[in-house]
Amino acid sequence: MPKRKILVTSALPYANGEIHLGHLLEYIQTDIWVRFMRMMGHECHYVCADDAHGTPIMLKADELGITPEVLIDDVHKRHLADFKDFSIDFSQYHSTHSKENKAISTDIYNQLNTAGFIKSHIVSQAFDPIKQIFLPDRFIKGDCPKCGATDQYGDNCEVCGATYSPTEIKNAKSTLSDVAPISKDSQHYFFDLPQFETRLKAWTNAGHLQTEVKNKLTEWFEQGLKQWDISRDAPYFGFQIPNVERKYFYVWLDAPIGYMASFKKLCSDQNLDFDEYFNLDSQTELYHFIGKDIVYFHALFWPAILMGANYRTPNAIFAHGFLTINGQKMSKSRGTFIPARTYLENLNPEYLRYYYAYKLNAKIDDIDLNLEDFKQRVNSDLVGKVVNIASRSAGFIVKRFDKTLSAHLVGGRLYHKFVNKGDEIATFYEARNYNLAMREIMKLADSANQYIDQQKPWQMIKEANKAAQVHDVASLAINLFRVLITYLKPILPTMAQQAQMFLNVDTLSWDEIKHPLTKHQINRFKPLMERIEEGQIENMLNASKQNQR
Ligand code: 2FM
Ligand code: ZN
Repeated sequence: MPKRKILVTSALPYANGEIHLGHLLEYIQTDIWVRFMRMMGHECHYVCADDAHGTPIMLKADELGITPEVLIDDVHKRHLADFKDFSIDFSQYHSTHSKENKAISTDIYNQLNTAGFIKSHIVSQAFDPIKQIFLPDRFIKGDCPKCGATDQYGDNCEVCGATYSPTEIKNAKSTLSDVAPISKDSQHYFFDLPQFETRLKAWTNAGHLQTEVKNKLTEWFEQGLKQWDISRDAPYFGFQIPNVERKYFYVWLDAPIGYMASFKKLCSDQNLDFDEYFNLDSQTELYHFIGKDIVYFHALFWPAILMGANYRTPNAIFAHGFLTINGQKMSKSRGTFIPARTYLENLNPEYLRYYYAYKLNAKIDDIDLNLEDFKQRVNSDLVGKVVNIASRSAGFIVKRFDKTLSAHLVGGRLYHKFVNKGDEIATFYEARNYNLAMREIMKLADSANQYIDQQKPWQMIKEANKAAQVHDVASLAINLFRVLITYLKPILPTMAQQAQMFLNVDTLSWDEIKHPLTKHQINRFKPLMERIEEGQIENMLNASKQNQR
């Protein structure tokens, strides 16, 4: 198969908060895909960045008494450390507050403006007369206009579920100053989405979207597309709109452009051709992994912006559902709002990578992290099944056979059954049906363990003249383990690395497993993964609860 050139992104996390297990669902999902595509020999670049602009970040820096630049630098370092420790293998992790992003955002805006896709009109919005800033909806609180519940946000009521505009809310107050917002006029700039209706409809029906997402878009088309407000007034932390005083790009305009900017940085660092990836006639592939909450931005605004500025559009948007923990929304009081760092202080990151893979499919259904099931799965599948194959066989080879595998592979049928599953497992990976890939891999692990159980090498070794047979059984088991760890490598990169040392091989690849290891020297076996013990999960939940106080 010819080598494909692929650019992959995950959504950019905001630069004012910690990475938590909800974010990680997406980064792990994407990372597995990227690692798999690279294993298949494709050129696959994975870019991301901190989403650094907007009012909340400006206000948070204000509250901390630092500049937004200092805040976002600090968060950037922490995000990078979390991603590294979860083995998220970005080619580039940038920031939207970068010179590349400023240049591309400005350029795209100018192109859209010249082409007649930017409109401007006066808008009246809530303004904090003390703080002297326009207030985003979440900075307004008051009584719900439908049910009267007090202390509700400016756009929706958590009690009755009503949604409304901040002008409808009763007894409105700014959360910043506690005074009633006034209504104030200001000139705003809009991206004229309705001009793209025909092209967007065609794009939506051309196979770039999951069915559920496509259906959602059809609803939005029926409701009618609206112009999108892409400007915000000063003071705002972001990029200034060219030739307009005191107006900035809304954070959601320059955020997806941040994908391009991050890639641009990678191109200059690694001498890649940016245009080859973004020109209209590009032969490369572009995929965005996102959560279902931001489909509107990625499946409507983003392709339209790219169309308007004469760039290629994505091959696909891959949306996933939300993470629930023990069947419920993540909650600070239950301790299930778990920061990446708190997890890492208590548990091995590869446990979570495996559990997410075990649950993930190509749909947008929510994914539940059931902590009891998590513990059982990891202990029984990874430790009890996969690692066990190596740990119960390695001792014979090391102690009795000078660390060397048999010269011939016995049990060729079983071995070939393992190798022959490779294509199906690969198809599951590429289609993001990791759950199905994991089922197949664990079925194979079961059959390897059954084989060892039937052969009973621990008994044979005590019998006369059975040494050669033990050698063959243990050698086959080690070879079966090699196939399994190859299949699991996108999920468990660290364990795969350690397994490589144990197996004494330079690489693990779908191609190489076609040839079993014979007359090959391995290394002493060291435990590849520990069981999750009683208490580790509780400790993590307690620590998360403490963190929230
Ligand atoms: O929803 C969010 O967390 C946004 N920061 C995602 C941005 S993704 C992209 F468009 F940049
Ligand atoms: Zn209400």
